[in-house]
Amino acid sequence: MKISVIGIGYVGLVTAAAFASKGHSVVCIDSDENKVNLINQGKAPLSEDGLDALLSISVGNSNNLKATRDYGEIVATEVSLICVGTPSNSNGSIDLSFIRDSAINIGSVLREKNDYHIVVVRSTVTPGTTKNIVIPTLEEYSHKKLGADFSVAVNPEFMQEGKAVHTFLHPDRIIIGEYDRRAGDMVERVYRGTFAPILRTDITTAEMIKYTSNAFLATKISFINEIGNICQKLGVDVYAVAKGISFDYRIGDRFLNAGAGFGGSCLPKDLKALLSASINDLGYHPSLLEAVYNVNQVQILRMVELTEEKLGNLANKKISVLGLAFKPGTDDIRAAPAIEVIRRLLEKGASIITYDPKAMTNASKLLPQVSYCDSAAEAVSNSDCVLVLTEWDEFRDENLYQGKIVIDGRRVLNPETAKTFCDYQGICW
Ligand code: UDX
Repeated sequence: MKISVIGIGYVGLVTAAAFASKGHSVVCIDSDENKVNLINQGKAPLSEDGLDALLSISVGNSNNLKATRDYGEIVATEVSLICVGTPSNSNGSIDLSFIRDSAINIGSVLREKNDYHIVVVRSTVTPGTTKNIVIPTLEEYSHKKLGADFSVAVNPEFMQEGKAVHTFLHPDRIIIGEYDRRAGDMVERVYRGTFAPILRTDITTAEMIKYTSNAFLATKISFINEIGNICQKLGVDVYAVAKGISFDYRIGDRFLNAGAGFGGSCLPKDLKALLSASINDLGYHPSLLEAVYNVNQVQILRMVELTEEKLGNLANKKISVLGLAFKPGTDDIRAAPAIEVIRRLLEKGASIITYDPKAMTNASKLLPQVSYCDSAAEAVSNSDCVLVLTEWDEFRDENLYQGKIVIDGRRVLNPETAKTFCDYQGICW
């Protein structure tokens, strides 16, 4: 099939490269000239495991993938996937301006097209966005009739950063929200050869499935963190408790790692967007989801509280922070708990020495006043206390922590053995 992908972010690029590798002819469209040039040379403008290999197959060998700044290329395709970003506004609500711009651009091009076309919203958008914004904008700018000249579907992505290519090629489900049957059939054809259960719904249900997925994952994490805080007071290990409940197949064993809370580009943002849409647009106050968000904020700051409990006044104290990325395997520091913790420690007058195997370049733009080291060992030498905020494997080395005060936010050490060689404190164990 001939596919156009709007937006060369991590969702758009992985989607485009993966579909091209399956034999579709794909054109990526983005206004960023640098990204467009890189892709046309077969180079990825972002780091994801397996992405370079996909690009070299699709751009180099098979010529199935190209990038352009010209929206006019949409005319020659049958399906357009909108994969642009949906960031947060300052009040937590979703910023849909890139979605609206994409719909305007696609609509304007469709005006010139005589054949039928499908527009698929793959970006994460609050329920109702496709119906209330994307469809009317497409109709207005294309002067075409929905259901007759073109149609619309919603196909949310569930990729995990760092494993995006793998999670795309081996999804656990494909959700297709369809305006009509023809649109759903076309999207199913795009996925032919990918083996996963397919659920076809209406467009708003598909949008809600995406938010519900992320809200549920966030709920699991805040839930186990809250249980952890209770367990700690009881002298009970929350990891043993999590294991104990995991044998119940209704509960399962995933996403129950207690620690310094969730971050990243999706869970915090999507939770805030759902809260805002629910409270401000629908007049319903989701108190559980609000608590999930608040528990996470408090959990992150617990790292600072524990540091103060150990060191007293933090002014002029030297604190090592191991890990800056929001999770291991990525250089992404968006909404990373480590960044929030460092900001608070700096406000309290502490000086910060840090190390992360991948995320220091990104962090140094945001926090230039912090010292960045070449190794974990260098970062922990000569400090008053060590905080672990990302569970990189190299931080599991016990030799790093000998004789130190250690506050472990990610369970990189075994608490029982750690107590024999350092002054060890788990965040909630
Ligand atoms: C998430 C969803 O998993 C994915 O389905 C969605 O499409 C995008 O958002 P991602 O942001 O890549 O993916 O990260 P994920 O692996 O889900 O981790 C999110 C955060 O939760 C991280 O900060 C991680 O450290 C934290 N986490 C995760 C925990 O604190 N405990 C856990 O048990 C699991």
